[in-house]
Amino acid sequence: LTPPTIHDHHVHTPLTMSTASSESSPAAYDRTAELHALDTTYAGVRGLVASGVTHVPRIFRVPDQHHEPRQDGTVPAGQEPAAIPIIDLGCGDHTAVVAAVRRAAAQWGFFKVTGHGVPEDTMAMAMDAVRAFHEADGGEGSDKARLYSREPARAVKYHCNFDLYQSPVANWRDTLYLRMAPTPPDAGDLPDNCRNALFDYAHQVKSLGNTLFELLSEALGLKPSHLADIECNQGQVLLCHYYPPCPQPELAIGTSRHSDGGFLTILLQDEIGGLQIFSEDQWVDVAPTPGAFIVNIGDLLQLISNDGFRSVEHRVLAKNVAPRVSIANFFGTHIDPTSTRIYSPIKELLSDENLPLYRETLAGDYIKHYYSIGLDAKTALSHYRL
Ligand code: OGA
Ligand code: NI
Repeated sequence: LTPPTIHDHHVHTPLTMSTASSESSPAAYDRTAELHALDTTYAGVRGLVASGVTHVPRIFRVPDQHHEPRQDGTVPAGQEPAAIPIIDLGCGDHTAVVAAVRRAAAQWGFFKVTGHGVPEDTMAMAMDAVRAFHEADGGEGSDKARLYSREPARAVKYHCNFDLYQSPVANWRDTLYLRMAPTPPDAGDLPDNCRNALFDYAHQVKSLGNTLFELLSEALGLKPSHLADIECNQGQVLLCHYYPPCPQPELAIGTSRHSDGGFLTILLQDEIGGLQIFSEDQWVDVAPTPGAFIVNIGDLLQLISNDGFRSVEHRVLAKNVAPRVSIANFFGTHIDPTSTRIYSPIKELLSDENLPLYRETLAGDYIKHYYSIGLDAKTALSHYRL
């Protein structure tokens, strides 16, 4: 491999990455070589920032033609900013909780939950563990180098952008990936400083997930065990994200717009903010709420609910204030690309007025299709629409 050419003398990093804008010297830019150079540091975007980068390298730059207005959620004076619902699961009124979940899942596809029963300590220790992992050095011989991989079969891995070589824009973010179910990983594969905290976190969030699947089943008018009976909760993957501070946040994106591929996501974000959902043709901030989880519907739940629930696009803005940590817990996706389970709109929901909107879909096919696209606008689901 030929080392990438030096294009910009502002950047003094072990990587000599292009920071020129696309107008100048287009021919001198070898994107694949620059992606590869970043990849082989085993230190991700965090390594780039730690080395003192002051300009966003070109592989991360959002092309102008795709550059949407950055909206900060400001609204005309006198108007309340739009916000996703907050549901207190511990309020004691089961009927009211089911009704609130039904409305939120149908209208927003996103809601926050409090009174969820996951101990504060578990949440804080998981976030601290993720931060410590990402803030440790990379490079030869490190935990990061040992875990650096995009190999689908690996249950525990670390990487900078799962779709680095497919996506048009690299995201300003690194990820520790843990597949916890159906088969838990070998404890020895987890980084030492994360093991207990993330096993405990996964265990607690799994039981919150079971509660939510019961509520969502009831919200669809089905018996509480319906979604668990068809194994929507079988797979569990944690994506432990780290968004380093970005020197030129308006030129980059933390996570490109996408919808989640599985059935359900439970997200924990720190106090930095940056998550937005696309609702009624505009980007709406999902502001941090201490102690709450963010819950969102994934594509496969939209499919089996026959559009009763919505899988909504979202993204994360890059920020320059401080690093941001989040843990996304996915149920039912990233499982097994060879899965032979077939999903289609739930029969009990169909009638002459509610005809099936999607064809029968092999779960494994859906996952493969989702990954072949990479993070982009919500396009995977439309492939299965009748
Ligand atoms: C995701 C995601 C949001 C966040 O991992 O799918 O949307 O806040 N993450 O990191
Ligand atoms: Ni997502």
